[in-house]
Amino acid sequence: MRMYDLITKKKNGEALTKEEIDFMIEGYTKGEIPDYQMSAMMMAICFQGMSEEETLHLTLAMRDSGEVLDLSRIDGIKVDKHSTGGVGDKTSLVLAPMVAALGIPVAKMSGRGLGHTGGTIDKLECFPGFSTSLTEEQFYENVNNVKLAIMGQTANLAPADKKLYALRDVTATVDQLSLIASSIMSKKLAAGADAIVLDVKTGNGAFMKTEPDAFALAEEMVKIGQNAGKKIAAVITDMDQPLGNAVGNILEVKEAILSLNGLGPKDFMEVVYALGTQMVLFAAKAETEEEARTMLEETIKNKTALDKFAEFVEAQGGDKRLVYQPEVLPSAGIVLEVMNTEEGYVSRIKAEDIGLASLVLGGGRVTKDSEIDLTVGVLLNKKRGDKVRMGDTLATIFANDMEKAKEAYAKIVCAYEIQPKQPEPVSMIKGVVR
Ligand code: URA
Repeated sequence: MRMYDLITKKKNGEALTKEEIDFMIEGYTKGEIPDYQMSAMMMAICFQGMSEEETLHLTLAMRDSGEVLDLSRIDGIKVDKHSTGGVGDKTSLVLAPMVAALGIPVAKMSGRGLGHTGGTIDKLECFPGFSTSLTEEQFYENVNNVKLAIMGQTANLAPADKKLYALRDVTATVDQLSLIASSIMSKKLAAGADAIVLDVKTGNGAFMKTEPDAFALAEEMVKIGQNAGKKIAAVITDMDQPLGNAVGNILEVKEAILSLNGLGPKDFMEVVYALGTQMVLFAAKAETEEEARTMLEETIKNKTALDKFAEFVEAQGGDKRLVYQPEVLPSAGIVLEVMNTEEGYVSRIKAEDIGLASLVLGGGRVTKDSEIDLTVGVLLNKKRGDKVRMGDTLATIFANDMEKAKEAYAKIVCAYEIQPKQPEPVSMIKGVVR
């Protein structure tokens, strides 16, 4: 088989066979197929697309390019959750302990933040001593004992995707649906859970800016998951403004703890409950959505989710006392309020700009090796639909450098859109694809 012939075939709009896709992915992972041939193939796929069958074969070939976790040593139906990335998205910190508090094993692999979006691992590292570098043994043991463990993505998880994603990033071939879906799903399938709930975000701060694109991606990923024999659902959720009020690592951890104490922002909790409902249904702990939601609400009311979070933090080396005393977590030295200069209603808060403001403050990564400041970020005092008067505080900046705080200020002012009329309420949940 020759890569040249496969590129020609795809360029002419023909479908590649399983054997051809396996040859291509294996050869590329081993370094036998050079970047320039793979780039040509990726571009041909961008123009010609891939069938459902080809997309599945590509996903499975990438999954099998490295280790595939075998979670069969963990009792029960293991559920995983994945978000396509957003701003202020601390969902896993609240959802995972809620689900685990119901006795459902949550075995999760998470990543770090990059660019304007945050990552769960960075947030968890706000607890001194907390580690996500678990061995496979520890991971299984913690899920069995605590019902919840979160591990950093191992270097050998879908290595073909890692290499290919880096290549797509510099060859303008990221934005093809089958390529995105297979990239995400290869990692999710390698992480080994029985059931997967996807949070596909849509809006200004999301990868998929429009609802039709988000639904198309959700459908593509759900098809792959089903064809690979998994229980899978995708919830399409709003990312046209940051989720909740806090953006920035420690600020988000504090908001997550508030939420576990029953004081979570409404928009945020709506997303948590929508995702949690699907997880509980997959784990066969409830028969209807209403029943699943009631069970989840109970974990907040009776504080079992809060206690589960503390137990999980301790099991991975963190200080669980901070879960009960979050005010002890360090905070940034400079606090600057962003003043409103127009009368009206907040119609939109461009999530990407708020994410970029946090990045400017040092709370996000410019490259994957950047150091981040866990204390900085932005608290949104006003959200979409709120009435605002001149002089009201729109948002509060937490910084450790005045120049950076001023830069963030300008970005936040641009992020807020104020209009004279109150906007129609926007539903956080755009739909569910099963
Ligand atoms: N996230 C991924 O993991 N892969 C893509 O291709 C796009 C977003």
